[in-house]
Amino acid sequence: MNDSNDKKESRQHYFTLHDNLNERSYELPVLEGTEGPRVIDVRSLHAEADVFTYDPGYKSTAACSSEITYIDGTNGILRHRGYSIEDLAEHSDFLDVCYLLLHGELPSPEEKEEFDRDITHHTMLNEQLIFFFRGFRRDAHPMAIMVGIVGALSAFYHDSTDIGDPLQRMTASHRLIAKMPTIGAYAYKFSLGQPFTYPYNKASYAENLLKMMFKVPADEYEPDQVLIRAMDRILILHADHEQNASTSTVRLAGSSGANPFACIAAGIASLWGPAHGGANEAVLKMLTEIGDKDQIPEFVARAKDPDDNYRLMGFGHRVYKNFDPRAKVMKKTAHEVLEKLNIDDPLLEVAMELERIALEDEYFVERKLYPNVDFYSGIILKAMGIPTHMFTVIFAIARTVGWVAHWKEMMEEGSVSIGRPRQLYIGQTERTFTTVDVREHKQSRGWSWLWGGHEN
Ligand code: CMC
Repeated sequence: MNDSNDKKESRQHYFTLHDNLNERSYELPVLEGTEGPRVIDVRSLHAEADVFTYDPGYKSTAACSSEITYIDGTNGILRHRGYSIEDLAEHSDFLDVCYLLLHGELPSPEEKEEFDRDITHHTMLNEQLIFFFRGFRRDAHPMAIMVGIVGALSAFYHDSTDIGDPLQRMTASHRLIAKMPTIGAYAYKFSLGQPFTYPYNKASYAENLLKMMFKVPADEYEPDQVLIRAMDRILILHADHEQNASTSTVRLAGSSGANPFACIAAGIASLWGPAHGGANEAVLKMLTEIGDKDQIPEFVARAKDPDDNYRLMGFGHRVYKNFDPRAKVMKKTAHEVLEKLNIDDPLLEVAMELERIALEDEYFVERKLYPNVDFYSGIILKAMGIPTHMFTVIFAIARTVGWVAHWKEMMEEGSVSIGRPRQLYIGQTERTFTTVDVREHKQSRGWSWLWGGHEN
C-alpha cells in the first residue's frame, strides 16, 4: 500500500451498527466533507444485512455529495462555493452568482463579459412557442404555463439535449437561465391580454425581467434603480439552496438520463407547492385573509392549535433552526423598497405586526419558527406591483441556475446511478385472486362526483 493510501486508511472512521435480532454488527464507513456533519456510508448495508434505512422526508439522509452550496442551519450560514450569501447579495449581481454556481469560481472581468453576453444572446424564444402560450386559458396559473413551456423547450432545442456532450450541457444551461425570465414574463402578459414584450439585451438580467413584465408598446417604461436592485437581490437570494425538494427532484429526474429541459420542468412542478416555493404566494394569501391587525391573534391562535393544521405561511424552515440568513438580507431590502415607494398598504402593516408577534410568541420561539425568505420576498414583490400569482414564477426564474448547476455537477460525476429509493412495504401479503363473478357485492361510488359529472 502506498503512502497516500496509508494516510487515507489511518483517517477512515467507522460507525458500528448492531442488530440485536441476529446478534451481528456491521462496520459502516464514515465519510467526511469539508464542513458539516459526517455521513455514514450505508451503500453496502442492504447487501450485507438485508435491511434498508428508513427516512421519509430525508431528515437524516444525504442523497449525494456536492461542492456547490453549504448550509449550517443551526448557525444561519449559507455559502455558495465558499462565499457568504450576505457578501454575494451585497457585492455581486445575479449573473456573477450564476457564473459562480455553474463554474465554481467568481468570473474574471473578461469571463463575466463573455458570460453576460452568452446569457443575453439566448433570451429570445423560438416564435413557434408563442402558439403554446396561446393554447392556455387566460386564467391559467403562470406556474402551470411554466411547467408546460419549459418541458416543451426539449422539442425546440434538439442541439442541446445530448446529455453526454459537455458543450451541449453548457448550451442547455445557458438557454435555461436566459429564457426563464422571457417565459415568466410572457406568462404574465398572456394573463393580462397584453402583447408580449421582447427581451431587451442591453438591460441587466433583473432590469430585463421588469421591462418584459411591465412595458407596453404604447408607452415608455424605465424601472427605478431601487427596484432593479431589489429584484436582483431577490434573484441572488433564491439562486440555490443545496438539496431542497425541487433540486432533489431535478437530480432524480436527471439520474434517469432525461434531457435538461424536462428535468427543469420537473423542478418547477416541485417548487410550486406551498411548503416550498409556493410559500411566497401563500404568504400574501394569508395576509389578505387576515386583513387587519386586529385579526392577527385569531390566526396566531389557529397556528398554535394542535387540532388545527393551519400554519403561518412564511414561518419556519426545515434546515434553518435559528434564523434564515436570506431573510435578514431580504428584510433590509423590503424596508428599502417600502421607503422608496412610499407605500401605504394595510397588508404590509399586517405583515410587520405578524412578524413582531411571532418573534415574541413562546410557541414560535420554542420551535424556532422564524420568518423565512418567502415572508419578506412576498412583501417586496407585492410592493413592486408584481401580482401574487407571479411570486413563485420569480422564485423559479432565480432557482433555475441552482437546478442547472446541480444537474450539471451530477452529470459530470462520470457514472450516474439512477435514483431509486426503496420502501418499507406495509401492504397486503400474498392473497388468492378471485374472478369478478364470485366477488362480494359492494355499492360503487362512481367517480363523476369528483369533477361534477363533466369535464371541460
Ligand atoms: N406555523 C405554525 N406552526 C408551525 C409552522 C408554521 N409555519 N411550521 C412548523 N410549525 C410547527 C409544527 O406544527 C410542529 O409543531 P409540533 O412540534 O408541536 O408538532 C413544529 O413546528 C415542527 O414542524 P415540522 O413540520 O416538523 O417542521 P419541518 O421542518 O418539517 O417543516 C416547513 C418546515 C418549512 C415545511 C414548515 O415550517 C412550514 O410548513 N412552514 C410554512 C411554509 C413555508 O413558509 N415554507 C417556505 C420554506 S422557505 C422557502 C423554501 O426553501 O422553499
